[in-house]
Amino acid sequence: MNNFDFQNPTKIIFGKGEISKLTNEIPKNAKVLMLYGGGSIKKNGIYEQVIKALQNFEVVEFGGIPANPEYAVLMDALEVIKKEKITFLLAVGGGSVIDGTKFLSAAALYKGENPWNILKNNERTFKGFPFGTVLTLPATGSEMNSGAVITRKETKEKFAMGGPGLFPQFSILDPQVVASIPQRQIANGLADSFTHVLEQYMTYPAHANLQDRFAESILQTIIEVAPKIMKNPANYDAAANFMWSCTMALNGLIQKGVPSDWAVHMMGHELTALFGIDHARTLAIIAESHYKYNLEDKKEKLAQYAARVWNITGGSVEEKAMEGIKKTTAFFQSLGIKTTLSEYTDDYKGTAQLISKRFEERGWKGLGERGKVTPTDVEKIVEMAY
Ligand code: NZQ
Ligand code: ZN
Repeated sequence: MNNFDFQNPTKIIFGKGEISKLTNEIPKNAKVLMLYGGGSIKKNGIYEQVIKALQNFEVVEFGGIPANPEYAVLMDALEVIKKEKITFLLAVGGGSVIDGTKFLSAAALYKGENPWNILKNNERTFKGFPFGTVLTLPATGSEMNSGAVITRKETKEKFAMGGPGLFPQFSILDPQVVASIPQRQIANGLADSFTHVLEQYMTYPAHANLQDRFAESILQTIIEVAPKIMKNPANYDAAANFMWSCTMALNGLIQKGVPSDWAVHMMGHELTALFGIDHARTLAIIAESHYKYNLEDKKEKLAQYAARVWNITGGSVEEKAMEGIKKTTAFFQSLGIKTTLSEYTDDYKGTAQLISKRFEERGWKGLGERGKVTPTDVEKIVEMAY
């Protein structure tokens, strides 16, 4: 097991009706900027619950943060923070609204010249502007981690950012919000959280027995609740397990003391930037070819996953590993997610070369847990995913 530090300062308030507790979590006399997305919260009752809980605070609203939060829109919100002398940010939404709020948390206290540099140069944030979240969509884990991913349409770029100053102070997780989520987004949440676990598990054995079993138990729970929550998003017990699995998949815990990969995400982000494909679906496109291409390096963990998560007991290490990959793709497909790029766009030719060139230009020489997935490998992996 590798050495590690672990500190996660986010307070989680979980359960039915807990949005009302907002009022106790925001500093007294705060002037709050409430940030939200395209308006789903106005149709499902979440908006009313939040406004009610905020009745003793001065509140300014900023709606319209799009899925794949857009830099230009966030720059408008930054103006509002300054003009209105806001003292606390409240994100009410899914990963996009929360990530957008994290960018604002970094940008509002940024000492540099141009906030774009936070993204372009991946400048880490050690002290952020205070914020909390009300989660409306389980998927990203952003409610309990310090990372964010921001898009710039103008240049078709999607960059990750973060730092220890960007953990939410609190996040309220009421599984009842899941009832109004469209099936497409539920499928995305299941596939995204599943892949988050894989990125931190499908590497090489590190004698981290507990982390392995944490990871496997999250995968098993997601597999178990998937058909139930896809069938009926109002199933509270399934929603609660789905929501907590998504949070636990990416709050830092399972990643401690083990190598992690994240190459599937790095390639996937490019597919969202280039084609606008939903984040989770890009992961389902890349995962199989990434694992097949890197079979030699990953076969032991793949075989362990096949055995412990999918109960595949027969065959050699390689055979079990391949079976594990097949099961993964079949799982994504069981959610109605297509797993090749050409099923999303006719314009896919040249994508592999383009992504490889972008990585080359950014100086990303070696991705993955061993730092050895080069831009040339990336080209081959993306091509295999056509
Ligand atoms: O915008 P509104 O109208 O609110 O609608 C949203 C949006 O269209 C809708 N929605 C959310 N909650 C709902 C709901 N509809 C009905 N009922 C509800 N309760 O769902 C749509 C998608 O929302 P979005 O926030 O974009 O989805 P998600 O949570 O999957 O976030 C995706 C973003 O997170 C980034 C992705 O790259 C992408 O930009 N990620 C962030 C990570 C992180 N911070 O740790 C890690 C991830 O790997 C990921 O990269
Ligand atoms: Zn993800």
